[in-house]
Amino acid sequence: MSAPSDIRSAVVPAAGLGTRFLPATKSVPKELLPVVDTPGIELVAAEAAEAGAEQLLIVTSPGKESVAAYFEPAPELEKNLEEKGKTAQLAAVRRAPSLLAVKTVYQYEPLGLGHAVAQAEQALADDEQAIAVLLPDDLVLPTGVLGRMAQVRAEKGGSVLCAFDIPKAQISPYGVFDVSDTDDPDVKQVHGMVEKPSAEEAPSTYAAAGRYVLDRAIFDALRRITPGSGGELQLTDAVQLLIDEGHPVHVVVHRGGRHDLGNPGGYVRAFVDFALRHPDYGDDLRSWLAARLEG
Ligand code: UTP
Repeated sequence: MSAPSDIRSAVVPAAGLGTRFLPATKSVPKELLPVVDTPGIELVAAEAAEAGAEQLLIVTSPGKESVAAYFEPAPELEKNLEEKGKTAQLAAVRRAPSLLAVKTVYQYEPLGLGHAVAQAEQALADDEQAIAVLLPDDLVLPTGVLGRMAQVRAEKGGSVLCAFDIPKAQISPYGVFDVSDTDDPDVKQVHGMVEKPSAEEAPSTYAAAGRYVLDRAIFDALRRITPGSGGELQLTDAVQLLIDEGHPVHVVVHRGGRHDLGNPGGYVRAFVDFALRHPDYGDDLRSWLAARLEG
């Protein structure tokens, strides 16, 4: 599926500290932790490429260069695998560098998601009117929602976010959208957003996910908001400013699953879910798990 050509760059903010995943993230960026055998960031890069993005802009911090390095070709290793006839491994090693062009921009201090996204502006061409943003620790399944979001932007203009319909009793850990209906049941107009509301105060059951199609106006809005708690610039504050100024913002309600790779509990679920569907490991893991759960 390809997005309308006005989205060429996919921004992946990967400059956070990963404190929920310490001690591993002391030396391994969480974006490189494997889901079975493939780092989360490759899964997200493949999703961006599938949606038609040509360039992946990784927002990184000093010391996390290994995230972008993962997308560089490895000629020595490739030669070795080629000589040994290890074709499957060779294809796996070549996949990440072939997905799309990768560029890095730095966020020198972890001053929030909004601040991380703001750093991407310097790497955009003058005629790029919108960007996609994918949070690499949020796996949205099945892939394809970004293409749908880009379509909604082409129809309605403005910016388009992604939402999951969550049972009201489980809504409080999420950012929740205040919405009104459109003539498409899976597309809602957004009027605002409430962070982590109680079930009674939640304005809807639509919770934010880590996928965004943002008009270039977001960069100007990010310059005009003030830092919130902890001195962080919040992306949602910039989106709210745009809404208040009449910029159209919609959500696509994604009827699928997701995994949070940013904490060990969510990561383990993702790992098991992907492993169960893996042609080499799935059957064996299923029987081992069944026996383990009985014992
Ligand atoms: P998270 O809050 O999930 O990531 O931010 P984190 O800050 O690394 O995690 P914890 O809370 O310390 O465990 C969502 C995404 O935004 C990026 C993160 O790298 C992550 O991919 N981010 C966050 C930045 O790039 N810069 C920031 O200042 C904050």
